[in-house]
Amino acid sequence: MATTSRVVFALLCFLHDSAGALRFASYYGDHMVLQRSPDRAVLWGYGPEGAQVTVSLLGPSVQKTRPVSVTKGIWRVTLDPVVPGGPYNVTAAAVDGDSATLTDVLFGDVWLCGGQSNMYFETSQVFNASEELALAAAYPHVRTFMVALRQSETELTDLIKVEFPWSVPSARGVANFSAVCWLFGRYMYENLKYPVGLVESCWGGTPIESWSSPRALQQCGLEANTNSSLPEMKNSVLWNSMIHPLLNMTIKGAIWYQGEANADYHQDKYNCSFPAMISDWRMAFHQGSGGQTAKDFPFGFVQLCTYQKGSLDDGFPNIRWHQTADIGFVPNPKMHRTFMAVALDLPDETSPYGTIHPRDKQDVAHRLTLGARAVAYHEKVSFLGPFPSQILSVQLYVNITYNQKVSVTPSKDIFEICCSELGAPCGPTSIWVPAPIMHWGPTTVQLCASMCPPTKEVAALRYAWRDWPCDFKACPIYSANRILPAPPFIINRYLQKTLEAGKE
Ligand SMILES: *[C@@H]1O[C@H](CO)[C@@H](O)[C@H](O)[C@H]1NC(C)=O
Ligand SMILES: *[C@@H]1O[C@H](CO)[C@@H](O)[C@H](O)[C@H]1NC(C)=O
Ligand SMILES: *[C@@H]1O[C@H](CO)[C@@H](O)[C@H](O)[C@H]1NC(C)=O
Ligand SMILES: *[C@@H]1O[C@H](CO)[C@@H](O)[C@H](O)[C@H]1NC(C)=O
Ligand SMILES: *[C@@H]1O[C@H](CO)[C@@H](O)[C@H](O)[C@H]1NC(C)=O
Ligand SMILES: *[C@@H]1O[C@H](CO)[C@@H](O)[C@H](O)[C@H]1NC(C)=O
Ligand SMILES: *[C@@H]1O[C@H](CO)[C@@H](O)[C@H](O)[C@H]1NC(C)=O
Repeated sequence: MATTSRVVFALLCFLHDSAGALRFASYYGDHMVLQRSPDRAVLWGYGPEGAQVTVSLLGPSVQKTRPVSVTKGIWRVTLDPVVPGGPYNVTAAAVDGDSATLTDVLFGDVWLCGGQSNMYFETSQVFNASEELALAAAYPHVRTFMVALRQSETELTDLIKVEFPWSVPSARGVANFSAVCWLFGRYMYENLKYPVGLVESCWGGTPIESWSSPRALQQCGLEANTNSSLPEMKNSVLWNSMIHPLLNMTIKGAIWYQGEANADYHQDKYNCSFPAMISDWRMAFHQGSGGQTAKDFPFGFVQLCTYQKGSLDDGFPNIRWHQTADIGFVPNPKMHRTFMAVALDLPDETSPYGTIHPRDKQDVAHRLTLGARAVAYHEKVSFLGPFPSQILSVQLYVNITYNQKVSVTPSKDIFEICCSELGAPCGPTSIWVPAPIMHWGPTTVQLCASMCPPTKEVAALRYAWRDWPCDFKACPIYSANRILPAPPFIINRYLQKTLEAGKE
């Protein structure tokens, strides 16, 4: 009897020694940021089966968790809430004395940065890159971490590989980190004045299907595994390997820059697949963190910028619209607690990385920051560009009233109307004609509708419905302070109530 148990014990030791002693999961490291109070940070790692593990915190405040046992090789604790600040040393220790320590850990807000190549786009590639990099070291409380690009056919518990471990920013380190993620974190830090942790997990050229769980895809009739020549473009493979492992970490929110790869791939499903992915991530992060990550955590995203000047392809306009669940702005009833950086006025015709990769990421990040401050931190800041609150159409003109004061530059063709005598809704294949801006007031714009023959009426109106609608920061409609561009819209009289019939 005694011999048998000694053999079993020895075998277990052997198994777990070969898997390493007591340690943290791959994405817990020195210099990291853990989610601050009122949320509680979740920490987990590996250890010898059955060992009792306690985690203690040494720094501006101290705490020690009750012991938890290692089950199936894994231990997990939830800390008591910690106010923003640091540095802390976080030690996981087994009763037998084996231990692992993370040093220089800060508490603050942790933001996940996801998407495709425009999120991957490096700080070394932006306009004024040398100035941005020179500033990096001045923000020691903004910490960065990057997940390596790996795909998996099954949902993983931990990352396959870490690309960059948690780091204190330096010009060299930030150079290869996501520009949108870094700038967003830096600008948020300016505002919050406490630590910000940034987790980059993105991959160029990838469609939303690869970042979505089978659950989310099923809601949109996308469950059939697609036959892609590129493995990283298959359904759920990046969800499995680059998102699922992170679910057990407590986070504040996420930002996302993706959609280009869906402009010609399941484009007409994006109005379902995008909101479904957001809801699914929220549910999964909430569950994975044992309820610590909010079940409606703030989710910010960048509305697509531009690709091909002069193109009549409606892929980008359609994705931009679908990014808002076909409502035109967020947050809205279909997309709670989301915020959007409109970017269609930031084209870059001479980008050495291709026009699909514009170099002005500062304005993108700045607009995201405004949205985060309003939606995630409940500050009273303007973050929405002008949107029509009323559209009045009479025989010869269309009057638009915006929901705020506008700054207007005349344009002959940024607005387009579709004329109809049948009362049928207008789609992309309908005939659209320009409706020049005639007059404008502080909150109104009057369009000429004379292109509609007298027998027809204006059935639909659209704004900036082109891949590349304007020059850099020169779209016709902005907020009064010219910081926030009006988002594009398409409004059908016979589909939405917003287009009110005029009194003739
Ligand atoms: C954390 O650990 C490092 C290295 O062992 C040590 O130098 C430092 O003083 C410790 N900090 C705290 C707050 O205990
Ligand atoms: C990292 O950034 C530097 C510029 O600082 C650049 O030369 C290099 O190619 C980048 N490395 C990778 C792997 O992208
Ligand atoms: C998948 O793609 C390959 C090569 O493109 C093709 O030979 C094969 O028939 C496709 N399979 C399905 C199920 O469509
Ligand atoms: C999404 O867009 C497509 C194409 O425009 C449309 O047919 C469909 O009804 C929309 N679905 C939802 C859920 O809004
Ligand atoms: C992560 O959370 C999920 C859901 O609570 C749980 O099933 C899983 O075991 C957790 N993984 C780890 C490594 O703690
Ligand atoms: C780059 O720096 C110049 C000079 O300070 C400034 O005018 C410009 O707006 C900056 N560009 C971006 C994208 O921040
Ligand atoms: C439309 O706008 C013009 C110019 O602002 C104004 O004169 C006109 O009365 C408006 N028409 C209606 C029906 O409100």
